[in-house]
Order: sequence, then C-alpha cells, then structure tokens
Amino acid sequence: MSENTIAAKKSPEMLDYLLKRRSVKVLDMVEPGPSQEELEIMLRAACRVPDHGKLSPFYFIIFGGDKRIQVSKALREAYLSEEPEASPAKLDLEAARFERAPLVIAVVSRIREAKVPAWEQILCAGAACQNLILAANALGYGAQWLTEWYAFNDSFKAHLGLEKGREHIAGFVYIGSTSSQPEERPRPDLKELVNYYESDKPLIKGNLYNNDGKGFAPLQFEFLLETNT
Ligand SMILES: Cc1cc2nc3c(=O)[nH]c(=O)nc-3n(C[C@H](O)[C@H](O)[C@H](O)COP(=O)(O)O)c2cc1C
Repeated sequence: MSENTIAAKKSPEMLDYLLKRRSVKVLDMVEPGPSQEELEIMLRAACRVPDHGKLSPFYFIIFGGDKRIQVSKALREAYLSEEPEASPAKLDLEAARFERAPLVIAVVSRIREAKVPAWEQILCAGAACQNLILAANALGYGAQWLTEWYAFNDSFKAHLGLEKGREHIAGFVYIGSTSSQPEERPRPDLKELVNYYESDKPLIKGNLYNNDGKGFAPLQFEFLLETNT
C-alpha cells in the first residue's frame, strides 16, 4: 500500500461533478489561465491514465502567452493550403484560433513500437485528454477538447514537428477561466446504449445518434485495422 495512490475513495463531490460536468465553449473563456504550478498538476493528472504496457503513447505541446500568437503564422499558411481563395478576414480568424483561450495544450498520440495494438495506444491518448480536462475543472478552470481542421492538416502537423503516420493530434485542450455555467445539453438515454448480456437478444447500439442520414464517418486511420502482435 502506498500513501500516494488511491484505488477507491467515496467522494460524493466527485460523483456530483461527473454527473454534471460540461465543457465550456472556447469563446466563453477568459483570463486568467492556469499558473505554471497548476499546469504541471494538470499534466501530471493527464499522465496518470490507464496505459497498457506503460508506453505513455502521448506527449504534450503547450501554447500559452505569446506562443499562441507565434503559432498564428503556421495556422494561416495551413489554412491557405486548404482554402487558397480564403478572404483576408477569414484568414485572420483562422490564424487566431489559439488566441481564443488563455492556454491550449495539444495532446499528441504517438504510436510506440510495441506489442500493444495501435488502437489501444490511441485510446490511452484520449484518456489523457479527458484527465487533463477533469484536472483543469478541479482547479476551477473551464476546458474544451477540440480538434477542428488544423488537427488534420498535414502542413500544420509538420510545422509542430509531428511524425507522419505515427503521430496524430488526439486533441487541442483549451483551458481558461469562465464566468458563467453552461446550459445542459441532451444526454443519451441509458436505454439506448446499455445492454445486459443475453445470448439470444439483438444488441441495442444507440440508434439515437445514427439516424441523422449522414452515414458513418470515414475511417481515417487504416493502421487501426492492424495489430502489432
Ligand atoms: C476527439 C474530440 C474532438 C472534438 N472536436 C471538437 C471540435 O472540433 N469542435 C467542437 O465544437 N467540438 C468538438 N468536440 C466536442 C467538445 O469537446 C464537447 O464535448 C462538446 O462541446 C460537448 O460538450 P460536453 O463535453 O459538455 O458534453 C470534440 C470532442 C472530442 C472527444
């Protein structure tokens, strides 16, 4: 047993938070952002995720203060590569993406060479994003997990230094102070998503979100089909 670990602890406060948590829209974020000390606490929480093989299949890029402005040139060029006809006003808007919140943390999923399937390593990076958000919220900051177009733009990813094929943006976690509490949004009905196993009954798979006529999202990561074992 260690004083520094907790396997389970009754916490009505944490449960209440989990049942009511909401993201804060990045446009509703204001200064101040987290201090350096708070940032390090959040990052430590982000690293404390279930991680098959102890691979830490993620790393972070921090954009605070002026760095949010310095990155705007790369964002502008990346947007122009996608939309060569974009108006100057639109380009200004896209270039200023990171300036919307006091702090932006890119969580990069890095597929390690290991027996653990890529899929599991990617999930682990997603868990790091969520732990980051939970820690930010517990420190009193609002947070939002975004990808937007630049998470998938090759020239922007290359500018950041991501290795093609092996590294992907799991998320840009935007963090800042917030003055208002967000409205509730509809949540899934458990009846639509939960199956109690019975061998002869068809599964309920959440039709709630599949009936918008838009079909399935494209599978962007073909390597997910492979396992390394
Ligand atoms: C991987 C991932 C990427 C996301 N990217 C975007 C995005 O680009 N734009 C957006 O509006 N919401 C995005 N979201 C959703 C928001 O983070 C957030 O969940 C949503 O606004 C609903 O708020 P809630 O967390 O309070 O339910 C993303 C969520 C995930 C998990």
